[in-house]
Amino acid sequence: MENIIDLRSDTVTKPSKEMRRVISSALVGDDIYGEDPSSNALSKYTAELMGKEDAIYTCSGTMGNLLSFLTAGQHGESLLAGENAHVWCSEVGGLSGVAGLCPYPLTDDEGIPKVEDIAKASRADGNIHHPDTTILTLENTHNYRGGIAVAPDRFAAVAREGKRLGFHVHLDGARIFNASVLHKVNVKVFTKEVDSVQFCLSKGLGAPLGSMLCGTHEFIQKAKKWRKRLGGGQRQLGIVAAAGLYALQNNIDRLVEDHENAAILFELLKKGGVAVENVLNMTNMVFFLLPEDIKDEKEFLNDCAKHGLLLNTMGAGRVRLVTHLDVSRKDIERAAEIIIGVLSE
Ligand SMILES: Cc1ncc(COP(=O)(O)O)c(C=O)c1O
Repeated sequence: MENIIDLRSDTVTKPSKEMRRVISSALVGDDIYGEDPSSNALSKYTAELMGKEDAIYTCSGTMGNLLSFLTAGQHGESLLAGENAHVWCSEVGGLSGVAGLCPYPLTDDEGIPKVEDIAKASRADGNIHHPDTTILTLENTHNYRGGIAVAPDRFAAVAREGKRLGFHVHLDGARIFNASVLHKVNVKVFTKEVDSVQFCLSKGLGAPLGSMLCGTHEFIQKAKKWRKRLGGGQRQLGIVAAAGLYALQNNIDRLVEDHENAAILFELLKKGGVAVENVLNMTNMVFFLLPEDIKDEKEFLNDCAKHGLLLNTMGAGRVRLVTHLDVSRKDIERAAEIIIGVLSE
């Protein structure tokens, strides 16, 4: 079928012609020897953009988060995270299974734990039985909470509480530029509050792969060693790094279009009687609940696919739609028509 509309995730974007042109002419060298000019340029540009001393490429967001936990924590220590955090729910338990950390989930109804819950959850109290709490990890935008962009003041208050208690504060900023664009602030407004930040090149920014981990020079040097230990050091990385740099230089401001498309999708579905979730500070995601009489989520997805629309469910009848640079306003209108049509069949 021609013109499939793929709203499963913003990870499905394909490199544009211009990005492919940049990839094909990328200068490369051996990145393990520190000799890849494109990778070095990407690290330098990223560090400056994020207001951090240094940055490294990681093959995925999952690896960026894991490297941060391995670098900042020790086996047997504990880590505070929201109960719906991607690092805790969807990274295959790497924070425990690989980094040896004991996660302590906190309620995160509005995409971030409450300031007053941080100290209560801390086990860094000298009690011999307790796993010392050493890391607080935050997520912005928050995926499973509907793509909510946590506001700068709220974010800063929680991050500062983590710092006050002596924790390493990490930001899983897979989609941090969606948050900065939505709130119309420089991304440093968020990143200056944390010790380390991971963001994805491969999501809304439209690069085919990769993420960046940023922090102090010392932190990134240690993370680099962990990356090598895990087999994540790569050679002529410039092929990919050039795409990442292109994405950062060209595709941040346009995220506003994805947010507008999501808002239109939300309104069209709502008008069509679909049980869409109302999210404060919505970005590029729309979630809705299937009616109770639809017991088989897969059948619903298959029916949409037959009409040329691909979607994801998050379980319990909750469907997620994600806008991105490969979907147009027309696609969005068509997607709403398909969903409303399939639900009324
Ligand atoms: C909030 C968040 N963090 C981390 C990740 C992991 O990124 P990756 O799929 O590149 O491992 C994702 C992926 O969807 C995510 O949504």
